[in-house]
Amino acid sequence: MANTPKWLNDAVFYNIYPQSFLDSNGDGIGDLQGITDKLDYIKDTGFTAIWLNPVYVSPFRDAGYDITDFYKVAPRYGTNEDFRHLCDEAHKRGIRVVMDLVAGHTSLECEWFKKSALPEKNEYSDRYVWTDSVWKMGTEGSFISGYSDRDGCYMNNFFYCQPALNYGYKNITEPWQMSMNSPAAIDTRNELLNIMSFWSDLGSDGFRVDMASSLVKGDPDKSGVIELWNIIKKEFTAKYPENILIAEWSFPKEAIAAGFDIDFLIHFNLKAYTTLFRHEKGTNQSEAWIGHSYFRKDGKGDIDLFLNEYLDHYNATKGKGFISIPTGNHDIHRISLLRDTDDLFVTHAFLLTMPGVPFVYYGDEIGMKYIEGLASKEGGFNRTGSRTPMQWESGKNLGFSASDTPYLPVDTSSDAPTVAAQSKDGNSLLNHTKKLIRIRKENPALWANGEFEVVHKNYPFVYKRTGGSQTIIVAVNPANRRAEISAPACRKVIYAKDAQADGTTLKMDGVSFIIYEA
Ligand code: GLC
Ligand code: CA
Repeated sequence: MANTPKWLNDAVFYNIYPQSFLDSNGDGIGDLQGITDKLDYIKDTGFTAIWLNPVYVSPFRDAGYDITDFYKVAPRYGTNEDFRHLCDEAHKRGIRVVMDLVAGHTSLECEWFKKSALPEKNEYSDRYVWTDSVWKMGTEGSFISGYSDRDGCYMNNFFYCQPALNYGYKNITEPWQMSMNSPAAIDTRNELLNIMSFWSDLGSDGFRVDMASSLVKGDPDKSGVIELWNIIKKEFTAKYPENILIAEWSFPKEAIAAGFDIDFLIHFNLKAYTTLFRHEKGTNQSEAWIGHSYFRKDGKGDIDLFLNEYLDHYNATKGKGFISIPTGNHDIHRISLLRDTDDLFVTHAFLLTMPGVPFVYYGDEIGMKYIEGLASKEGGFNRTGSRTPMQWESGKNLGFSASDTPYLPVDTSSDAPTVAAQSKDGNSLLNHTKKLIRIRKENPALWANGEFEVVHKNYPFVYKRTGGSQTIIVAVNPANRRAEISAPACRKVIYAKDAQADGTTLKMDGVSFIIYEA
């Protein structure tokens, strides 16, 4: 593994959406102290690292992905000192903390942008991408005209309120476009490096980089942005060799070549992730992609839709970086949508035994639901239903907050899962998740860097993991029908539900899995 730190090999991440995790002071919004208060729960479940969604000062028009001050924790979450304290307490428990780095854009209300929008030339004029006339938009990307008295249109990276920072253009076709080596583009890059050092010095163990592939413009083959990240990664690693960079890119071949330690396989660029879990109507996919998820009782999926892309990227990145298949995140429907607990036993068995580094989105360890019909909150739109408060125990706001007006309403259904109830139930999804994490850590074959080989498809999907001197077979059968196949001989069953390995015969009931040593 080129320069990827060793600690990633048996790492399991917990993705925390800070505003919805635990409100420690009763103002209705989750905060850093709330996360610190729950570190023992996080450790006890087996997680070795946390990815925190953005905690910086922001007007929250995109839930904090619109930053006004990159050097300061938003008061609603606490102070920079609270962040340092969280890192210290996490580190004492052997847990790393990875922050979100919104590298491609700022809030419209950021001081840099306010200065950039002035007609008079100043040090921030070229911090963002502007055309040279209000009547002239760029032909690539999205531009806003008439915003201020500056004669030009600014490029936005996502919502209108997220102007794109200027890291330069790879291919220049217009006089207003600047090169990647222009002083302005280099200033932007240096500012980013400065931000990275600032938080690393306070205790951050790395960054998940938001829209990582978006930084360089006019870069259709991504060679420009790959070059840029290699420069950043080199400087960052020289200073913080144990700290990592995770990409929101979803094209691992490019992201790992750009120097990232991990790339997420998620819902854009590739279909691989969607075809596993979210291939149904109403799960926010383009019509062209609609089909049957592999992980569904109806058993009409096709694991090759996943494997064709996955293996291509896996083989290209093996030994250089990791592909992470998360249970979900704050941008997509929860994995529990259209699935019951039995189904989730199987999805989690798969997700926690694949190569790469697993990520569990808060609440997915207890099967929290996607809450339908919520009004959009802070730019969430249909993502809002995946962002509701963590469900700790029965009682007011399910233990999230003492406030009468929590950030978002908690799940009001009578069977809303909670940590308290599931901890006491030996057969709960929480205890299953815990057991899978423990099994993963105890068996090097299942680590991020363990080998992966397909043994059988379609239902069941069977794969071999090897590492150390171990060979482990994992078989998952999400379909609601029995299957009997031959597979490598079983020496010892590690964990199974409704499946048996009898010599070289695998007998699997519907919706089952088995993990065994071969
Ligand atoms: C990423 C974030 C998403 C945000 C967008 C703009 O996709 O995950 O939540 O809205 O970038 O920053
Ligand atoms: Ca609070």
